[in-house]
Amino acid sequence: MTSIPDLIRKKRDGEALSDAEIKTFISSVTNKTIQESQTGAMLMAIWQKGMVDAEIEALTREMMSSGEVMSWPKAWAGRVVDKHSTGGVGDKVSLVLAPALAACGCMVPMISGRGLAHTGGTLDKLESIPGFNIHQSTAQIQEILGSVGCCIVGQTEMLVPADRVLYGLRDTTSTVDSLPLIAGSIISKKGAESLSALVLDVKFGRAALYKDQESAKELAQLLVNVANGLGMRTAAVLSCMDATIGRYVGNSLEVIESLETLKGRGPDDLMELVTTLGGLLLMMTGLVPDQSEGRRQISDAVIGGAALAKFRAMMEAQGVAKETAGRLCSAHTDYYSILRKSEHQVELRSPEDGVVLDVDGLVLAKVLHTLGAGRSKAGEPVNHSVGAELLVSVGEKVEKGASWLRLHYDDLAPTPDQMSRLRSAVTLGARGETRRRQNLVKELLLPK
Ligand code: URA
Repeated sequence: MTSIPDLIRKKRDGEALSDAEIKTFISSVTNKTIQESQTGAMLMAIWQKGMVDAEIEALTREMMSSGEVMSWPKAWAGRVVDKHSTGGVGDKVSLVLAPALAACGCMVPMISGRGLAHTGGTLDKLESIPGFNIHQSTAQIQEILGSVGCCIVGQTEMLVPADRVLYGLRDTTSTVDSLPLIAGSIISKKGAESLSALVLDVKFGRAALYKDQESAKELAQLLVNVANGLGMRTAAVLSCMDATIGRYVGNSLEVIESLETLKGRGPDDLMELVTTLGGLLLMMTGLVPDQSEGRRQISDAVIGGAALAKFRAMMEAQGVAKETAGRLCSAHTDYYSILRKSEHQVELRSPEDGVVLDVDGLVLAKVLHTLGAGRSKAGEPVNHSVGAELLVSVGEKVEKGASWLRLHYDDLAPTPDQMSRLRSAVTLGARGETRRRQNLVKELLLPK
């Protein structure tokens, strides 16, 4: 068997590793028989020399098999689905999409992540609901799927242990931004969920990891190819992440906007993403003949209340008291009788009459991050109540002195510099100028 130094040398010299060699590397990571320095060196060699498609597929397959691979009852065959997003600002799609898909007959074992830097995380949002437990074992996930059809949970200890090691070392060796390593990390976890179909929301724009559509497309195409190679029908959506998704940013505020959406009062951009991603999944499972019928069914589930009923059942199944879940899902909008409200709110007012031309999601997210809404290091706590409500949308007219943003904060008060950055997040044009909301979805990559 080739030694680890030989494998590192081979990759360092730009040669492709064989399936067996990749298996040796990943099993030594999983069994902890490799030294950390060797793993770091291999990661750097992969970062520098890249991998051909066959290597990436082998890497992903071996990572997937490093731990438990979930298995589902035969009766669910073809209907087990999930979504992955590369991360955005105000991205609450999962909270609406998972229950909408369940209402349309899918099984959704949604394994989500936490926020890091300026991007939010679904698990942090859900944990702003008192009692919501994101820690569920595989047996509990199966039970919740059987009774509700969807759950949103954190990665279990048993799932893809090799990724836990590699992900930590990628951080400390500056090898996070390697396409083969990103693909292996994302798709191995989805593979271990034994999905029938997967949809990826790959974002580009100023508040996204990738600033331009072409580089986002390169990642999206790779992810689609690798996931389809592993037997999951997979499509990707390339969506623009310049502004915020919806009007609310911050953990509990995003729960409120998700509940409003599930009550049929959601913003157009959020509904566009939910129906596009959901429509693709319904089409790929074969539950509907085409994407437009899929979109229609997802939209009906959201507008008609079937998705809200699923969300309520999911909350109860994941530990939320019946009364709490019932009150959050009732027609009343007094969410703060349940969710904690920040100590302070301050409104920013428009300096002049005009038309909103642009909202900069990145500026907004970075200020909220420093006020405690996000974390800089894995494991840090977040303040669920910190956030912002945009009170205007692109294209809307505003009068001088009208409130355009409401900031929610606690003990970390915004500095004058942060206030001026927040003010700069909204660009006003002269009265009479027009600007229409652009669709967020710019391109679809379908499975061959
Ligand atoms: N999400 C992951 O799980 N892994 C990556 O490498 C990037 C995003």
